[in-house]
Amino acid sequence: MRTKIIAHRGSKGTAPENTLESFRAALKSNCDGIELDVHLSQDLVPVVIHDETVNRTSNGEGYVYRKTYQELQQLDAGSWFNKRFTGARIPSLEEVLQLLKVSRFKGMLNIELKTDKIAYPLLEETVVDLVERYQPDYQVVYSSFNVQSLQKVIGLVPNAEIAILLKKRGAQKAFLPNGHPIQAWHGSHRLVNDMIKNNKRKIPIRLWTVNRLFDLGYCLNKNVDAIITDYPNRALRVRDRVQG
Ligand code: G3P
Ligand code: MG
Repeated sequence: MRTKIIAHRGSKGTAPENTLESFRAALKSNCDGIELDVHLSQDLVPVVIHDETVNRTSNGEGYVYRKTYQELQQLDAGSWFNKRFTGARIPSLEEVLQLLKVSRFKGMLNIELKTDKIAYPLLEETVVDLVERYQPDYQVVYSSFNVQSLQKVIGLVPNAEIAILLKKRGAQKAFLPNGHPIQAWHGSHRLVNDMIKNNKRKIPIRLWTVNRLFDLGYCLNKNVDAIITDYPNRALRVRDRVQG
């Protein structure tokens, strides 16, 4: 089984992260999956953006949860990256699900619940409701640095696929506090050997964020389940060389 190539925030290296433009570029690369980050607007719309604020990736300022979806829609989320992306917007999760539907996407959608800094009330409920409504015929994996969020997801959809995000050595968790098994580790690529060594249950190991040729080659040689990268085209080329 070849290592899956997952596009991090879409094709983050070549398009403004977490925009439809970035997800279209990822789809065009023919990668095996897409990772995105979700926060909640003031009016409880799940929106796709990495940071708690809009400052870094748009022409606006302030916290996402203090703006309505309509206010967020008015921001330019493209020109900070490159002028040719002027007018790109912060998409709702629904817009991305719609794009994947019309594109007949069949890969893995990794929805990262960004609840490690802000405890959004109802984030898990609104995200899960939306995804269930779309009845995706592709794999959906919910990930988070926050165990409580994953536990909430399982409380809502007991057969949901959940993955814990890891950034520190020795922080592997195998089970949620209620004993429910965690189905995959999404770890910093620096932890690859540590994760492989401690993977008693042989769950899938997915590594982020693997961009440099050396790191891609190193991680692909370990035959992990997936690599999450800002450069899906580059990672696919390296995979062809390393894994055939
Ligand atoms: O999901 C993998 C990776 O995206 C986790 O870190 O900060 O890029 O969301 P971050
Ligand atoms: Mg992420």
